[in-house]
Amino acid sequence: MPKLTVVGRTGTAKEFEGSPGASIMENIRDNGFEDLVGVCGGNCSCGTCHIYVGEQFGDRLPPISDDEDCMLASSEYRTPESRLACQVEFSAKLDGLYVRLAPEE
Ligand code: FES
Repeated sequence: MPKLTVVGRTGTAKEFEGSPGASIMENIRDNGFEDLVGVCGGNCSCGTCHIYVGEQFGDRLPPISDDEDCMLASSEYRTPESRLACQVEFSAKLDGLYVRLAPEE
């Protein structure tokens, strides 16, 4: 099983085996990170699943859609590493993925 490491808002890092086919948001939420809210359930309409993805993984991720880009544009914490975790499916090619939760808006 591919693994991912998540750093929560308190700075605590946790590595766990992810579920391919589920979104990164679902993987994070289902592995004890209650501070990733995911209010809209993965419909790209709340921005509460904002994460920062290690730059070495950027070229393995799908491109940002117009909807995701629009939602991220409303965040004061957007950086070049920003993604919405609900818009990226976890897969074996992302084994070793490292992400941090963005600050709460
Ligand atoms: S869960 Fe709402 S935008 Fe990702």
